[in-house]
Amino acid sequence: MYVCLCKAVTDSQIKSAAEQSNGCFRSVRESLGVGTVCGSCACEAKKLVKASARKQLSDNSLFYQPA
Ligand code: FES
Repeated sequence: MYVCLCKAVTDSQIKSAAEQSNGCFRSVRESLGVGTVCGSCACEAKKLVKASARKQLSDNSLFYQPA
């Protein structure tokens, strides 16, 4: 699904970039250009980056974390 129409960026591209940048939205924004034209996608893109970082954290945790 397209999240950023200005730059034609999909949710899976954002998730992938978030994993590579350890959940840093600034890095994702710089690499994909999300939120850099009209800015209307920034909030949704940030949510995706946060969710991806949270998932990565729980996947790498040594301890059980209930959902
Ligand atoms: Fe992403 Fe416009 S929709 S910058």
